Amino acid sequence: MNNAIGVFDSGVGGLTVAREIMRQLPNETIYYFGDVKNCPYGDKTREEIIKYTDRAVKYLIDKGVKMVVLACNTATAAALNYLQDKYDIPIIGVVQPGARRAIQATENNKVLVLGTKFTAKSKVYDIEIENINSDIQVVDKACPAFVPFIESEGNVDKDATKKIIHETLENTRNLGVDTVVLGCTHYPILKKDIEEYYGNNIKVISSGREAAREVSSVLGYAKLHQKRFNKKDHEFYISEASENFNNIASKWLNKEIIAEVVDL
Ligand code: DGL
Repeated sequence: MNNAIGVFDSGVGGLTVAREIMRQLPNETIYYFGDVKNCPYGDKTREEIIKYTDRAVKYLIDKGVKMVVLACNTATAAALNYLQDKYDIPIIGVVQPGARRAIQATENNKVLVLGTKFTAKSKVYDIEIENINSDIQVVDKACPAFVPFIESEGNVDKDATKKIIHETLENTRNLGVDTVVLGCTHYPILKKDIEEYYGNNIKVISSGREAAREVSSVLGYAKLHQKRFNKKDHEFYISEASENFNNIASKWLNKEIIAEVVDL
């Protein structure tokens, strides 16, 4: 089917998922929406997150997308069930794929989940992991400084990156976990530095790869895969002009991206 896949995040984080979908499903077209105007979502209430996410998802659906990926853990935690009930097309989030990766990865059944305040408080990973394997112990850690830091391209400065990681993750190195889940799609942008901080004995995982595999399964099941022909260009939309978004997207996706500003 020729229609695009809608990918949504509060900002640049979902690009880490979009890149993986592009890699695994090169025939597919992506329409990406970054709600930079309302970012970060992590400090907002459930009602606010549902309102903003719904608005952007509706925009993508009106553009004709065949499925939507909430490439944002916070939006998944707050709004996935609501949106799945409201709309007829397949809508998936990133938490279930991330939880599955964590279950595969841990050998000592101790997992640390890094996320926004909302994601940590919602305990959405604990619930998903427990549903599959209740022997696994999950610790949640909110890292509210990371998203604004990444959105403002603070991570270009290596020393500043090391400092913020050290300050935020202090005391999490001796929890005895063998697996750390990047439970926010922004955090893979810091993955190398976070891995360095934890050292070789702890695996750092993100849900992007697993989420892309889930997109493929859903498309396959619903017979919605795009054939090679008629491939259209990916499109990028943001809710407010942002040079940072264009810079980060261009760097992350390795080609020049100029997102269209949409006033929702
Ligand atoms: N990328 C979003 C997530 O996965 C960031 C949340 C935010 O806007 O605070 O949770």
